[in-house]
Amino acid sequence: MRVRNLKLCDLARILRVERASFRAGGSSTTTFVAHLFRDRKNSFVAENEDGEVVGYALVRMGLGWLGSRRGGITSIAVDPPHRRQGAGRALMARALEHLAEHGVEEADLEVEVDNGAAQSLYEAVGFRRARVLRDYYGSDRDGLRMVVDVRQAGSLRDVQPGSADRAADGRG
Ligand SMILES: CC(C)(COP(=O)(O)OP(=O)(O)OC[C@H]1O[C@@H](n2cnc3c(N)ncnc32)[C@H](O)[C@@H]1OP(=O)(O)O)[C@@H](O)C(=O)NCCC(=O)NCCS
Repeated sequence: MRVRNLKLCDLARILRVERASFRAGGSSTTTFVAHLFRDRKNSFVAENEDGEVVGYALVRMGLGWLGSRRGGITSIAVDPPHRRQGAGRALMARALEHLAEHGVEEADLEVEVDNGAAQSLYEAVGFRRARVLRDYYGSDRDGLRMVVDVRQAGSLRDVQPGSADRAADGRG
């Protein structure tokens, strides 16, 4: 499994993974593509040994109060046949590493309360539950806001040297 920076030529494959991963009633394709373009320079894909894109993580960054760096995970998904093989964890590890490299101290994300798989992944890399977001995903579909201290994130210690593709993103 290899994690590299997202390229625009990945768009079709990312959209297929997104459609296969989120049930109807989630954000529209238009909203997803808008997020993808906004976040494209901070986002990543996971490729398998055949060079096939099997997952993505969209990472957002901006300025918070008093100019502090804020960040978070906009969306993450792995193609169903390729789950439970470490792609999600590798994407989260690279995303948190990227946020740390850019001076973000605390990151957040939203997840549906009944999405146990995603919450397990987030807790495995250090996120904790911050608050319930009533009807965040629609009527009777609550969300959870989860936050992580990026500097303390467990995933950073778990990243194996070379697991992120530094050559591909021009940093070495
Ligand atoms: C959440 C998701 C990205 C995880 O991707 P993945 O590649 O399967 O995750 P990994 O194989 O790296 O698993 C890492 C850890 O996450 C947890 N985890 C992942 N899937 C899980 C599941 N179905 N049930 C319980 N825990 C799970 C485990 O702790 C796992 O570690 P382990 O395999 O050593 O037990 C994937 O299930 C997915 O795309 N889901 C649909 C889209 C989605 O819900 N995205 C999040 C929206 S907020």
